[in-house]
Amino acid sequence: MASINTAFKALCLSLLFVTVSSSPATEPKVFDVQSYGAKGDVTADDANAFTNAWRDACAWKGRSKVYVPKGAFYLGGVTFAGPCNCQTYFVIDGVLLAPTNNDDIKKETWVNFAYINYLTISGSGTIDGQGKESWPFNNCNKNDNCPRLAVSMGFDFVNNSRIEGITSLNSKAGHFNFYFVDNFTIAGVNITAPGDSPNTDGIKVGFSSNINISNTHIGTGDDCIAILSGNTNLFIYNVTCGPGHGISVGSLGKNKDEKNVEGLTVRNTVFTGTSDGIRIKTSESSATEIAISNFLYENIQMIDVQSPINIDQQYCPYPQCKKKGDSHVQIQNVTLNNIWGSSMNKEANRVFWLREEDENTKFFHALTKQRRARNKIT
Ligand SMILES: *[C@@H]1O[C@H](CO)[C@@H](O)[C@H](O)[C@H]1NC(C)=O
Ligand SMILES: *[C@@H]1O[C@H](CO)[C@@H](O)[C@H](O)[C@H]1NC(C)=O
Ligand SMILES: *[C@@H]1O[C@H](CO)[C@@H](O)[C@H](O)[C@H]1NC(C)=O
Ligand SMILES: *[C@@H]1O[C@H](CO)[C@@H](O)[C@H](O)[C@H]1NC(C)=O
Ligand SMILES: *[C@@H]1O[C@H](CO)[C@@H](O)[C@H](O)[C@H]1NC(C)=O
Ligand SMILES: *[C@@H]1O[C@H](CO)[C@@H](O)[C@H](O)[C@H]1NC(C)=O
Repeated sequence: MASINTAFKALCLSLLFVTVSSSPATEPKVFDVQSYGAKGDVTADDANAFTNAWRDACAWKGRSKVYVPKGAFYLGGVTFAGPCNCQTYFVIDGVLLAPTNNDDIKKETWVNFAYINYLTISGSGTIDGQGKESWPFNNCNKNDNCPRLAVSMGFDFVNNSRIEGITSLNSKAGHFNFYFVDNFTIAGVNITAPGDSPNTDGIKVGFSSNINISNTHIGTGDDCIAILSGNTNLFIYNVTCGPGHGISVGSLGKNKDEKNVEGLTVRNTVFTGTSDGIRIKTSESSATEIAISNFLYENIQMIDVQSPINIDQQYCPYPQCKKKGDSHVQIQNVTLNNIWGSSMNKEANRVFWLREEDENTKFFHALTKQRRARNKIT
């Protein structure tokens, strides 16, 4: 991995040097989607214009920038694949509109970035999943043939990259998905969907490492952040979450081939009106023997949260998953420090966790067992 990065940098920098010496401009070369025929008129499918702009930017022998100006660009499913020759910027100042009918996406992910190194996505624009029409079809707990709705934006095998500033609105399923991603910063992003929209998770992360989420607002109908199998070293700072189901680890243990989750720091985060705040869920009688370890939750405020801290090792949202037996997912070295605020739970009478001044309280050292979640929330 390291040697690939070094080789990549050397190639890109030597090419950059040639570019710079032949022209005074040090700005990246711009590939405006409108020069590739994108209409931005709400109705024409601009997917081909976008992928053509990406293809040329990605092949450019120097830093390049795909530019989406103001306008409303309707796009079917698109994949922006690498490897690219050099750093690539993707600046979105306009609005990207997903098809209202999920069938018109024809992919698991509406806008997918794959196999890219040194990608930066930024801008004042919005990606609008237009999920409202599809949400009623999200009935998988009742219907085995339910359609699989598309995630708005996905990153697969993307490293050393960042996304900042943009807004993600009303995804059909999740807003952002990270899969086999290393060293990625998400900063100043705004993720919004109604509190009653089903499965509209904000950020899902799996098999990834060194992910840094900061200065971000997430309000959705499902988990603000869902941390799944195989993650290492995640850092969450100054995030506001609500509405939604909190910052969740799991569920884990249900499937074979799951991997450990090691190293999570959540700091200076506020949960407002969420069903859960800090949440860990593992299945009972689980298929895999894995561990969740080295977690630190610090300086966390809860405002009217139903279950501020919910560590459930018998997670079972539907009667079908009911089994007898212990979870084989170990929870080790979880620290909760300075968590305060109010709860909506009847028993807790709105004051669930009192502020503890500068006291490092270790709540969980080894396998922790807790009561089943009161509310049946996925
Ligand atoms: C990114 O890193 C992952 C492992 O962390 C690797 O599988 C993948 O190939 C890398 N992607 C690129 C584009 O180098
Ligand atoms: C992480 O990615 C950033 C670019 O987003 C890069 O500047 C930095 O060197 C990378 N860190 C490591 C350890 O590779
Ligand atoms: C996030 O975006 C939504 C929709 O555009 C907007 O209503 C809201 O004010 C934004 N929130 C923040 C914190 O920027
Ligand atoms: C995470 O990203 C923020 C914003 O870019 C930065 O200020 C912070 O230092 C980063 N933290 C870590 C642990 O990488
Ligand atoms: C926290 O994030 C918000 C955006 O959600 C930003 O306006 C604010 O400046 C950030 N605060 C710190 C201390 O970084
Ligand atoms: C416990 O986790 C913290 C991070 O939250 C880490 O710094 C520390 O080294 C871990 N302790 C052990 C004994 O692994």
